[in-house]
Amino acid sequence: MMRTETPRPIFLKDYEPSAYLVDEVRLDIVLDPTATRVTARSKVRLNPAVKQRKGGPLVLDGELLELLEIKIDSKVLATKDYSVSERQLTIKSPPVKPFTLEIATTCNPEANKALSGLYLSRGIYCTQCEAQGFRRITYFLDRPDVLATYTTRIEGDPETTPVLLANGNPVERGTLDRGRRHYAVWRDPHPKPAYLFAMVAGHLGSVASTFETMSGRKVDLTIYVEPGKEDRCGWAMECLKRSMRWDEERFGREYDLDVFNIVAVSDFNMGAMENKGLNVFNDRLVLASPETATDTAFFNIDRVIAHEYFHNWTGNRITCRDWFQLCLKEGLTVFRDQLYSGDFRSPAVQRISEVRHLKAGQFPEDAGPLAHPVRPDRFIEINNFYTMTVYEKGAELCRMIHTLLGADGFRKGMDLYFERHDGEAATVEDFIACFADSSGRDFSQFMTWYEQAGTPKLTCVLDYDEKARTATLTVTQETPPTPGQARKKPLHIPMRLALLGGNGNELPLELAKGEMTGDVLEITKKKETFRFTNVPSRPVPSLLRGFSAPVNLEIDLSDADLAFLMTHDADGFNRWQATQDYATRLLVAGVAAIREGTRAPSPTAFTRALGAIVYDDRLEAAYRAQALALPSEADIARVIGSDVDPGAIHRARNALRRRVSRDLRDLLADIYARNAIRGAYAPTPEQMGKRSLRNVALSVLAASNGADDVARARKHFETAKNLTDELAGFGVLCDVRGPEREAAVARFHKRWKNDHLVIDSWFAMQAASSLPNTLATVRALLEHPLMALTNPNKARSLIGSFAANQVMFNRPDGKGYDLVADSILAIDKFNPQIAARLLTSFRSWRTLEAERRGKAEETLRRVKETSPLSRDVFEIVTRILG
Ligand code: PHE
Ligand code: ZN
Repeated sequence: MMRTETPRPIFLKDYEPSAYLVDEVRLDIVLDPTATRVTARSKVRLNPAVKQRKGGPLVLDGELLELLEIKIDSKVLATKDYSVSERQLTIKSPPVKPFTLEIATTCNPEANKALSGLYLSRGIYCTQCEAQGFRRITYFLDRPDVLATYTTRIEGDPETTPVLLANGNPVERGTLDRGRRHYAVWRDPHPKPAYLFAMVAGHLGSVASTFETMSGRKVDLTIYVEPGKEDRCGWAMECLKRSMRWDEERFGREYDLDVFNIVAVSDFNMGAMENKGLNVFNDRLVLASPETATDTAFFNIDRVIAHEYFHNWTGNRITCRDWFQLCLKEGLTVFRDQLYSGDFRSPAVQRISEVRHLKAGQFPEDAGPLAHPVRPDRFIEINNFYTMTVYEKGAELCRMIHTLLGADGFRKGMDLYFERHDGEAATVEDFIACFADSSGRDFSQFMTWYEQAGTPKLTCVLDYDEKARTATLTVTQETPPTPGQARKKPLHIPMRLALLGGNGNELPLELAKGEMTGDVLEITKKKETFRFTNVPSRPVPSLLRGFSAPVNLEIDLSDADLAFLMTHDADGFNRWQATQDYATRLLVAGVAAIREGTRAPSPTAFTRALGAIVYDDRLEAAYRAQALALPSEADIARVIGSDVDPGAIHRARNALRRRVSRDLRDLLADIYARNAIRGAYAPTPEQMGKRSLRNVALSVLAASNGADDVARARKHFETAKNLTDELAGFGVLCDVRGPEREAAVARFHKRWKNDHLVIDSWFAMQAASSLPNTLATVRALLEHPLMALTNPNKARSLIGSFAANQVMFNRPDGKGYDLVADSILAIDKFNPQIAARLLTSFRSWRTLEAERRGKAEETLRRVKETSPLSRDVFEIVTRILG
């Protein structure tokens, strides 16, 4: 696990197919906490597609394994016929004819705190194989282009492991040794790469249901959880069935096994994992009740259950040829889960939350030292590439194809993809070819999106000629340099747009020359001009509607234009964008004013237009809540881009919040009063919208820190009937200086100390506080009996939230950086993936003002100099320092 020599990257251009293939695997797993014995019998043959010297060495991956015995065609292999290193097993000259390879090893689940391979989590045996965890279970060709069928036999103690699960369908169960042991056999008939293997064993409660597929087959669905938590599985089960139906209706995809199992575990590095027929989930993405899960958690459970389920086709049946193609399954599956979510709530609200997420996470990644293409061309540690760029920008690329081809054209391309590549390990080129072939369109320039990192800047200028009645739009695109890519090519960018007339009406779009499909303009050159004719009056442009491409749009609009768009734009997304743009303009000016000691511009026109949206009952509550939520401190930092002063940003944002609070006081109090929900809690878009509007109102009101506002928040917190409201109140109180805060912290702890998921929010909220003593609070919480950095959710709640707290993490004295770095180094000793992930919090350090930048650099150098470091952390720190 730890570095002994400088790790070297591997490159996409060096891809070569495997010399050997495995068609069939039989795994025999005998469970034991410290020495689980695994016997793998594989049918191996030479890959006919590879020209090679017959009988070359067979090189298998393997890590942290104890090798017991190797047999080829039942004969024990002599030690001289193979060699073992820290990461490989080489069989020097295997037979030329197909043969059976039998390898017996042991591994130590209890000692596995990296949570990759086979590990024990709260008494439950569980595996995580993506991307390269299977090699910690047995020696194998652990690469996604080696597809085999798996039969898995698990043997264990019936007392501690009554439930025995693996991929595929159950085929046999039995007891041994007069009931002292038992076993189960599972068979997965669908060939799959090793990263989709999974097994789970333990004492688990369960909730079962059934689903009838489109062709009338019955599928048994079961969700396994910690005993006693069965009553928190109802929502997840509902989501699963909805997802299964949705994929049939929207993509014609049917499920393909007799059972579908989900297991929730407490220690998990990521959100969830799509193992064939046996999805493993972080329990925070399964367990939900109104008292213990927020609306956001309910929403995320739905989204992630759908995401993992959708992987059955996009990821499992069609998998990736190599790990560089990760976006092939992830970007596409995120896009699919976004379409799914969009079918159950309003399109504007859905799109706003997608774009907020993209801009908050992916844009800074793309603008900093960790920028990489959606399909990277090199990596040291693949686990470092499960990024916002691969997932979220990857989804945006699929969305652009959808925009270019229309819903039907997109579906045609997808149908062809499933038809052509089912059962295969494919590439991005294969995927794109399906859209090119089914539509007859040329996607060669579009491919650049996959190869080129960085967020393009799209600068637009609109000129109106009153005499000629023409409007001329000049568009220039420029992608800034990113590490390893100094020069950039122009991209193929779909831009949805409208030109708005004086009362907000949409003017017809007639191009003087060239064509456009509907309201989509296709931009392909570095600089282009589009002339619209028959434009009766000076229009206000509404560009990049629905955020039709992942770019930074620049257009010189006046304050009055922005207020106009805030009031009139019929595109819900762009109307919201106008509120954000106007607020951002005020905030950036506010920051400059604070730093220069000058006066900030007046926000009166903004708060008036905002008030009109927030109070417009014809608009959905969820939408109004999104309008009322000002850009975050990180959003402002991103827009400022260099010489960033997080302290000034914090003050400027608070000042604007106070102004909104003052100008809209009566209106917000009225919204608060009128949006209380009387009936029982339900995770419906309507109720969620009302709660979020009411809770944003609560928080904006409290920005002025009046005694009444604190009292309101306190009452809200103490009388809340669900976690959404309780945490909204708690969050407000965490920012209040004084006894209310202490009381709330104590009360919340007392109420939830026995619930490991709810208590994560208690840690997170305190770490997110902007009160000056937050650093000390977080230090103390690190020692709290309920804190455990070995649990990824806990590490994320405390360290992750603190690192996302712009003012506190970026303290001018550098103590925020030190706290985070020290925790990262501690975590790196047992869980490199989580350590490396937390380290990415430093990715924007170069954009900071000089003093903080110096401190951050010092801290990063200290991390880099530490020895030993995992490959994961080594790669991130090296790239961040550049
Ligand atoms: N493949 C998982 C998903 O996105 C994510 C994951 C990656 C989980 C690596 C575990 C390990 O659905
Ligand atoms: Zn995924």
